[in-house]
Amino acid sequence: MSSVSSAELKREVSRRRSFAIISHPDAGKTTLTEKFLLYGGALNLAGSVTARKNQRATTSDWMELEKQRGISVSSTVLQFDYKDCVVNILDTPGHKDFSEDTYRVLTAVDAAVMVVDAGKGIESQTRKLFEVCRRRGVPIFTFMNKLDRPARPPLELLDDLESVLGIDAFPLNWPLGDGPRFKGVYDREKGQVHLFERTPGGAFRAPVAVSDISEPAVREKLDPDVYDQVCEELELLEGAGADFDLGAVSAGELTPVFFGSAANNFGVQMLLDRFIELAPPPAPRRSGEASVEPTSPDFSAFVFKIQANMNPKHRDRVSFIRIVSGKFERDMNVIHTRTGEKVRLSNSMRLFAQDRETVDDAYAGDVAGLVGNHDFLIGDTLSSSKELVFDEIPRFPPECFAYLHNASTAKFKRFRAGLAQMLKEGVVTEFRPLDTTGAYVPLLGAVGPLQFEVLQHRLQGEYDAETRLEHASWGFARWMRKKEGETRPEDLPELSMDVKLVRDIHGHLVALIPSEWTLGTFTEKNPDWIVSDVPFPP
Ligand code: G4P
Repeated sequence: MSSVSSAELKREVSRRRSFAIISHPDAGKTTLTEKFLLYGGALNLAGSVTARKNQRATTSDWMELEKQRGISVSSTVLQFDYKDCVVNILDTPGHKDFSEDTYRVLTAVDAAVMVVDAGKGIESQTRKLFEVCRRRGVPIFTFMNKLDRPARPPLELLDDLESVLGIDAFPLNWPLGDGPRFKGVYDREKGQVHLFERTPGGAFRAPVAVSDISEPAVREKLDPDVYDQVCEELELLEGAGADFDLGAVSAGELTPVFFGSAANNFGVQMLLDRFIELAPPPAPRRSGEASVEPTSPDFSAFVFKIQANMNPKHRDRVSFIRIVSGKFERDMNVIHTRTGEKVRLSNSMRLFAQDRETVDDAYAGDVAGLVGNHDFLIGDTLSSSKELVFDEIPRFPPECFAYLHNASTAKFKRFRAGLAQMLKEGVVTEFRPLDTTGAYVPLLGAVGPLQFEVLQHRLQGEYDAETRLEHASWGFARWMRKKEGETRPEDLPELSMDVKLVRDIHGHLVALIPSEWTLGTFTEKNPDWIVSDVPFPP
């Protein structure tokens, strides 16, 4: 048991801010991350965010896939100090395809910053990620980016938040023009204008001149029609009269909105300053009926991501844990609550691209990468008490199915080993047919087709196992259980020809169904069965 004092825990927890930046590809997530690091004084890191984006393909085989498709498959955590706070930014992959990986990362954060390209408004991927955050009640801060380019009218952008996403919006600052006429922002809380100077490339902190909106210097700087329009808009906003309600922000019902330009450092510092003030510290997490407080002295954490072969030089496996309570100390012994076994957490790392740094201690809200061949699965709980089981990782029903053929008999062992690892990491799910005769050709399910692509690419790159994918035409998986009493192995639902019965890795019965129409008749035919679109717990 740790000797941590409650004062230390309170202090450390209250100064932590753990969040993800969510956006549609190209809205400016990488740039904003880099600028946050710049203001956080982590300059070396800032350079490497871009370097990482540009050089990904050189670092490991399967990351080539990221380059080919311009996506980021892996995610990393960046930690830096800013003012009195310890800031953790969890990187979410930003590709267009639905991938469970991104969603799992979002279970490990306490807030999100949503970057919107102000020229385009809300785009599809932003909407999906927003939905996941909202379902979890995560507070969302909005950054309207790229005001240095022609943007949609700011009132329209706010309307979009309300009509497209269904969240109330409260602008904390307001843009003074857009495109070449963008001259700064008006801080609505302080009633001050921040005028910016453009710096070439935006490499340094942009100088900021602060003044009152009625000052002649401000009028002179702005085009007369921009000035009039801004005054009109500000009056409109004041007239709407809504107060800023922090409670609604914490509940995920209201999003504070900031305007700016990440590339030019316009409005970035204001966003970061207000974010650390307004965003909540690590939240309690649920274990069954109980709520585990972050300041509880007993250590607890959950695994939200597992990844093997992150670094080809190391060829090892990293399990990422989000700390929920207590103090993490290197070499501590904890209970892996799914197996009941004691585990020593000796090789704990903070990872940044290819650099690793040992983590000696960490608190709620922090993320540590545990290196080694632990028997962890995504969603597992590590804790000093046997009873804790966090249920943080949502289970998504797969919608794509395929058989994976091993292309070379001689490499069957590698194929098996590689697939076993990918299943452990949750890259795809396996289903077992009820009759298992004939050669072993695994039947796999995924939420999006990208997951199959990642699987094949990684099997080839990391295990030298060439595979062939045979797509299957089912579109729905339904978990089946008798409404009354135990479901015995011999109990089987009524089937039509095109429905296939399989079992998931926990032995639960699953029906694979081709179409919505078949799904309807299948459900009607089986009134004694629970037909669930969510996997049953193990
Ligand atoms: P992402 O991570 O969300 O995919 O976006 P990223 O930051 O990589 O930004 C996408 C592109 O948008 C980049 O241009 C970036 O420079 C640009 N960008 C980001 N913020 C702003 C902004 O405030 N104003 C303007 N005008 N552009 C911005 P690129 O051409 O793809 O790359 P680069 O050569 O500029 O690095």
